Amino acid sequence: MAKNPSSKMKSTKKKEKTPAFQAPRGMHDVLPADQQWWERIRKVVDEMASFYNYKRIDTPILEYAELFTRGVGEETDLVQKEMYVVKTKGGDLLALRPEGTASIVRAYIEHGMSRLSQPLKLFYEGPMFRHENPQAGRFRQFTQVGLEILGGQNDPVYDAQIILAFERILSALKISKVNLKVNSIGCRICRPFYKRQLQEYYKRREKELCADCMRRLSTNVLRLLDCKKEGCQSIKEQAPNFLDKLCTACSHHFQGVLEYLDELGIAYGLDHRLVRGLDYYSRTVFELFTEGPGSEVGALPGGGRYDYLFEMLGGRLTPAVGGAVSFERLIAVMKAQEVKLPAKNHRKIFVVYVGDLAKRKALTLIEDLRVAGFSVSEAFGKESLKAQLKIADKEGFPLALILGQKEIYEENVIVRDLRNSLQETVSLNKIVEEIRKRLKEKVQE
Ligand code: HAM
Repeated sequence: MAKNPSSKMKSTKKKEKTPAFQAPRGMHDVLPADQQWWERIRKVVDEMASFYNYKRIDTPILEYAELFTRGVGEETDLVQKEMYVVKTKGGDLLALRPEGTASIVRAYIEHGMSRLSQPLKLFYEGPMFRHENPQAGRFRQFTQVGLEILGGQNDPVYDAQIILAFERILSALKISKVNLKVNSIGCRICRPFYKRQLQEYYKRREKELCADCMRRLSTNVLRLLDCKKEGCQSIKEQAPNFLDKLCTACSHHFQGVLEYLDELGIAYGLDHRLVRGLDYYSRTVFELFTEGPGSEVGALPGGGRYDYLFEMLGGRLTPAVGGAVSFERLIAVMKAQEVKLPAKNHRKIFVVYVGDLAKRKALTLIEDLRVAGFSVSEAFGKESLKAQLKIADKEGFPLALILGQKEIYEENVIVRDLRNSLQETVSLNKIVEEIRKRLKEKVQE
């Protein structure tokens, strides 16, 4: 939209009424014009998943709320403040899933997937729901794509493989200025010691903390490192660094992750304040984000290792690592960075008619072209040749086939190159062959 709308536009705007119904706050329609961004991401993710051998899994949008209370953690913001919970007629509490990992682990245990070849690489795509304050990159319904490696050895190579796959997805989507932050938040052995030290440190400065941090001091002290409030920022600058306190096994594991990243040529920054908001993480945690345009959306893919989640959900101790990113944040960044989507209309043809007889003939011509494998469009609602060609041009079709009275009697059709407006009459019998030839030339151009 123009930045300085004319007064005429202003007056029309005034007359517009607010519709009686709007999408719920923080939830959005994906309109036809935006579908191309979604398709692009789906295509890149599908290709990447297939290349790295991640198999698709779909789980229900509703799960028992307790899955997240136990899995994600009772004290997390996600469970305390953000979960949409519904009570069924039978009295069960179900939650609109706020994230995908707990569901994947539930499905893995439920279907005995440990019997399959390990580790199991899975990916998923689907809507998630969090009752958050809507702002840039933060919605109440958003669509995540997640990658998870479950089972097998607790090998740092898998942490690196997850980061690699997400890094490749961002690069295939042409998102630039990408940075990776990594940290290790230890295990059951070293984390309690560190948490105690952190608690002691923060207790000494308790009076300076915000209300949320005061509450979390006894319930979830690691999250204090994550607080964005100004007063708390300066306190965390001097907080003890977990990387100095990791046990030998965790330190060794983290070193392994960094060495694999070095081997892959993936640059990273160590960030000892990166803890992430969900309780199931242990050892590696990571976030990828852009420092270029669109950076205000926050983390793009984020994730980490969650070796204890299986036990928390009633299964056996099983190593696992994964991450997720939302389509909405990827699209916001791609738009902010003015990413050009690959041209799609190479195989598309626009059929134009002049007169009623031609309109009827156009219907059968379109069917012949569809059977021959072309993607075809028309504008039957417009009668004038000019108006039809205008639409074809606007939508970026490379070729138009024009049928008029004369062409029908002579069993011909006009083939028009929409980029240079050159046209030629071709016999209807030879049209499929002719289009194949021309589109092939276009792809090579
Ligand atoms: P998360 O950090 O809560 O982790 O979300 C992962 C990603 O989802 C974020 O980095 C962001 O791209 C996107 N996201 C989160 N909340 C919103 C929102 N309100 N609006 C738009 N996008 C959002 C998880 O969900 C973990 N399950 C990731 C994971 C998978 N860890 C291991 N495996």
